[in-house]
Amino acid sequence: MAASADRFNPRTGNIPASATLEISARVRKLRAGGRQVLALTAGEPDFDTPEPIKEAAIAALRSGITKYSPVAGYPELREAICRKLHRENGLEYDPSQIVVSNGAKHSLSNVISVLVRDGDEVLIPSPYWLSYPAMVRIAGGVCRFIETDSRTRFKLTAEALQSAVSPRSRVLILNSPANPTGAVYTRTELEALAEVILERGLTVISDEVYEKIVFEGSVHYSIASLGGEIKKRTVVVNGFSKTFAMTGWRLGYLAAEKDIAQAVANLQSQSTSGPNSFAQYGAMAALKLPAAIVSSMVKAYSRRRQILIRALGNAARVGLLPPEGSFYGWVDVSATGLPATDFCIRLLEEKDTAVIPGEPFGGPQHVRLSFACDDRTLREGCTRLMALCQELTG
Ligand SMILES: Cc1ncc(COP(=O)(O)O)c(C=O)c1O
Repeated sequence: MAASADRFNPRTGNIPASATLEISARVRKLRAGGRQVLALTAGEPDFDTPEPIKEAAIAALRSGITKYSPVAGYPELREAICRKLHRENGLEYDPSQIVVSNGAKHSLSNVISVLVRDGDEVLIPSPYWLSYPAMVRIAGGVCRFIETDSRTRFKLTAEALQSAVSPRSRVLILNSPANPTGAVYTRTELEALAEVILERGLTVISDEVYEKIVFEGSVHYSIASLGGEIKKRTVVVNGFSKTFAMTGWRLGYLAAEKDIAQAVANLQSQSTSGPNSFAQYGAMAALKLPAAIVSSMVKAYSRRRQILIRALGNAARVGLLPPEGSFYGWVDVSATGLPATDFCIRLLEEKDTAVIPGEPFGGPQHVRLSFACDDRTLREGCTRLMALCQELTG
């Protein structure tokens, strides 16, 4: 076979397979062998999509909404998104500034592709959601990771941003509420960041897909809502997957200055075209859903978060900051002396429990534990994780 270096485009042909695949493959193998493996790995709600959303999509299908949709999404959906951004985020956009894509992931990769030029630096606070670096590299950009730690609750500070910016820096990716750390930026923290972003002429991509999943007094603010200038410098990315338990529907969107939205729509027109037609009718129903349906899901995450905090929050052998948002616990396992991947393999092989290693998120001393699972699985998974830590630390 030809050497892969010659065979593939170096930007896209040698992207490493997701590091989480190894864990998933091992889980499958163990289960096939009859072992009862507990999985605390899900990056998606464990709830089914609410019925009114399904009904709307079914009705759309039945009425013949089966053709290509407009490239940027149906105007009615884009209008509904504008109303949502106004009502919930205090943001004013025109439908021409909205582009609907096949998931927030697609919106992110689209906008990174249109904004990042060869050699441009993209600032990424670390730990980060694992797909950002690959998206930046595919676009020809260079990732500049800015380390954060538990002292700032894994949040980027204005000082750290200021000292990381170079003349080649062009874009900052901000994710609040954050995967994997559960951090939620306060309004004051965002204001401080916005000042540096404006002063240094950066564009910020604000990934807000977990906006509804916040706990105990944490409030989600979109950095774009802090003023007219920062709004012009922000691309807001959001989606339907996490809030409405619609991961399989593949619908997300961005809101941006008109020229950026147009460039993204043009890219989409030549790559994937408009998003799924009838799924967009489900999305329109989602935006009209009674708030109680979403808050009942958030209540369940909140209860599970308490289970997690009770199990690991004060434990001597692990470090856990109470998640402020999202549905992940970011657990420091460095006291065991094992790199996160080795820890995860031991936890799986010896305790039949799967969590995700932190390495691909830029956190080799941590594991990510998802509490988007039932209470019993979570409780038992935490017990097993603690048991392994105890054995390893003696
Ligand atoms: C931080 C973050 N952004 C974006 C996404 C992508 O969501 P979507 O399903 O809308 O593509 C995810 C999904 O895991 C995520 O965790």
